Amino acid sequence: MKKKKIIKIIKKKNKVKIVCLTAYSKSMAKIIDEYCDIILVGDSLGNVLYGFNNTHTVSLQMMINHAKSVSKGIKKSVFVVDMPKNSYNNIKNAKKNAKKIINETNCDAVKIESNNKNYSIINSLVKSNINVMGHIGFTPQHKKKFKAEGFSTKEEKKLMVEAEKIEKAGAFSIVLECVSSKVSNKITRNLKIPTIGIGSSKNCDGQILVTDDMLGLSGFYPKFVKKYVNLKKIIKKGVKNYRKDIISGNFPGKSNSY
Ligand code: KIV
Repeated sequence: MKKKKIIKIIKKKNKVKIVCLTAYSKSMAKIIDEYCDIILVGDSLGNVLYGFNNTHTVSLQMMINHAKSVSKGIKKSVFVVDMPKNSYNNIKNAKKNAKKIINETNCDAVKIESNNKNYSIINSLVKSNINVMGHIGFTPQHKKKFKAEGFSTKEEKKLMVEAEKIEKAGAFSIVLECVSSKVSNKITRNLKIPTIGIGSSKNCDGQILVTDDMLGLSGFYPKFVKKYVNLKKIIKKGVKNYRKDIISGNFPGKSNSY
C-alpha cells in the first residue's frame, strides 16, 4: 500500500501541524483537498448524512459508496476511510473488509476505533501492508454516552497505555477524541507517530473536525467545534431568493432559456 504519502505525514510531527477534515462526497473533497493533509471518510456520515442516532448501523457498503465518490475529488491529501462497527471484529473479517475498502476506493489507509483489545487486529492489517490510523478517547462505535476522558489518574494511565499499544501495533497516526489537554500533551510527547486531535486541545500534532460541523451545516455544535462559516444561513438566503424569483417570474430569465 502507498507508503510515501504516509511517511510524509509522520515526518510532519514536531515540525508542522497536520490539517485534517472529513468528506463524504466528491464535491466536498474537491473543495477541501488543497488545504488538507488528510481527508477522512468518517462513519460520522451515519449521523450527519443519514440522520442515524449513532454510527452503529453504518454499513461497509455505505462507507465504500461514499469513499468511491470522495476518491474522485482527492488529488493530494492522504485518503483515509473509517472501518465501520463490526467490520473488524476479528482478524479474518478485518483483513477481508479492509482489503475490500482499499480495492474498491483506492484509499491510502483505514481507521479503526480502539476498544482496548483490538491491537492484534491493527497489527495484522499492518503486517498485510495496510496503513492504519488508530482512534482513542471517545470512540462512538464502542461507547453509548458522550464523555470527555483523561481527567483521573486511572483514565490517564489507560489512555497512555492504549496509545502506546496502538503505536506498537504499527498504526501511522492516532486520533484523540475528547481527551483532556493534559493527557493529549502527554500522549503526543510520548509517541513517535502523530496524534490528531478532535476536542483534544492544541497539544496534538494535528487537528480534525467534521467538515459539515465547521461549515455550520450540521447543526451540531459541541464546545470543540469552531464554526468557520454559517453555510446554513447562506444556503437559506439563496433558496429564499430562488423561491422569490420563481414566484415573481424573474427566473428563469432570457439568459437561462433556450
Ligand atoms: O467519523 C468521523 O468523522 C471521525 C472523526 C470525527 C475523527 O471519526
